[in-house]
Amino acid sequence: STAAADAIAAFRDGKPVLVYDADDREGEVDLIYPADAVTPGDVARLRNDAGGLICVALSDDIADAFGLPFLQESLDHPASESGDLEYDDRASFSLPVNHRDTYTGITDEDRALTITEVARAAETPDATDFAAEFRTPGHVFLLRAAPGLLADRDGHTEYGVALARAAGRAPAAVVCEMLDDETGAALSPDDAAAYADRHGLVYVTGTELKAALA
Ligand code: 5RP
Ligand code: ZN
Ligand code: CA
Ligand code: ZN
Repeated sequence: STAAADAIAAFRDGKPVLVYDADDREGEVDLIYPADAVTPGDVARLRNDAGGLICVALSDDIADAFGLPFLQESLDHPASESGDLEYDDRASFSLPVNHRDTYTGITDEDRALTITEVARAAETPDATDFAAEFRTPGHVFLLRAAPGLLADRDGHTEYGVALARAAGRAPAAVVCEMLDDETGAALSPDDAAAYADRHGLVYVTGTELKAALA
């Protein structure tokens, strides 16, 4: 079977996959989980083995249902004036949130609770009062996917949501950049593929996923 089919099957089983976007974009590999399956132990793996920023990507319609803006459009500060991202037209950042039952929000238990409750809310948007369940600022950044997913944008935000959709899960995916502990740079695709091999995980490129999912 293909790497893309293996990635969808892994997501269906609640397992993470590694996705490299492209040489001409970020040039980064994210460790990506279906959000509803994330445990405190998975958050530990994300911060220890991936090491980037732990975010939850949501589809555009779910973000709309929750009233979630793009962060840069909701800030009234000159630092939010953008247009100078070198690898894309815009960032996908929305609000950083904590579930209201968390304490500080940063512990593995707290972040896993926020992540799984966002996923549960994404399964039942009509029954969700987002502001009653979550507060901002918080310690898990939400990301807002482009409406047409991979037809509109090639980000890990869209790869995560498209994988969740293809696997028949809630349209919510945790994404976190893999960083190199020695250099602090993005983990190279070769090293990320070797990590995937060592841990029995699927490594897939954006090109492969796009061909299978777009
Ligand atoms: C948030 C990011 C990551 O790159 C993440 O992968 C989402 O962004 P994108 O959709 O642009 O790849 O910047 O940590
Ligand atoms: Zn990024
Ligand atoms: Ca590490
Ligand atoms: Zn990315």
